[in-house]
Amino acid sequence: MVFQVQALPSVVEAIGETPLVELARLTKGCQGRVLAKLEYLNPGFSKKDRIAKQMIEDAEADGRLRPGQTVVELTSGNTGTGLAIVCGVKGYPFVAVMSKGNSRERARMMSALGAEVLLVDQLPGSKPGQVSGGDLELVEQATQRLVRERKAFRADQFRDAGNYRAHYLHTGPEILRQAGGAIDAFCDFAGTGGSFAGCAAAFKEHDPAIRCFVVEPAQAAVLAGEAPVRPQHRIQGGGYSMADLPLLRRELVDGYLQIEDTEAVSMARRLAREEGVFAGFSSGANVAAALGLLEGACRGKTVVVLLCDSGLKYLSTDLWL
Ligand SMILES: Cc1ncc(COP(=O)(O)O)c(C=O)c1O
Repeated sequence: MVFQVQALPSVVEAIGETPLVELARLTKGCQGRVLAKLEYLNPGFSKKDRIAKQMIEDAEADGRLRPGQTVVELTSGNTGTGLAIVCGVKGYPFVAVMSKGNSRERARMMSALGAEVLLVDQLPGSKPGQVSGGDLELVEQATQRLVRERKAFRADQFRDAGNYRAHYLHTGPEILRQAGGAIDAFCDFAGTGGSFAGCAAAFKEHDPAIRCFVVEPAQAAVLAGEAPVRPQHRIQGGGYSMADLPLLRRELVDGYLQIEDTEAVSMARRLAREEGVFAGFSSGANVAAALGLLEGACRGKTVVVLLCDSGLKYLSTDLWL
């Protein structure tokens, strides 16, 4: 027997190549299929490990990041966790700047991974678990201040091409390979829009007929051009009521879908109970949107979604009550 060494040089190389699983129990009785990319199986339990690796390695390659330089990032927790892992392994001090509105497991996990975590108060009247665009603006100001003070490299997930490239070069092509190239549609809850744009670009290059939909919280569907009626919602990681997302390539969007908090919650619970898939609010939103597509525009088709992060990140919330 010939053995091949399969041990990876570090956990950074374990990022990506997540499984693609058909949600056959949830779609029983529906016409069509939903394929789910289990991104919560990344080392930091979210898809954001991918962009952390790509943003840091792109910045190393083009000289924007110097050896030993401090890295700072505004995060809802997942990008920060990915950066804590990548920076820890590669030897960069890392500071995560996060709203107090995000669940506290996230801050604990980043600290455990060696990050310094700066928590920013929410606006008066904002609720924990509901981070608004206004709350995010305060986090942005704190991030800019810190970058100046520490002469740090800002990973800048809302603008850095590494965010888009991680999904264009890896997530999208992995899905195409795993699905045998046979997918009809993709829908994705947008935060920075990097996952949507990167995957959609890869899919449309493969087959321009693949339809790609942006998912937004109901009553905060700003990308669809609607005025935000209720900017505070429970789907953590996106839906920030920011009309302009630099990485979101509008020419790739075939439509906009809206999901209520309650639909995201009940679908996350059904995913756990019926599929054994323990994922968070935005994963529930993506699957709810995909099932909606099977009942409407994509009846009889194959829809792909990302399951963005782990249900473990929400143990302190009411998701699993
Ligand atoms: C749990 C979760 N879902 C969805 C998103 C949105 O992903 P993207 O920023 O690629 O649009 C994020 C982003 O932080 C997230 O943390």
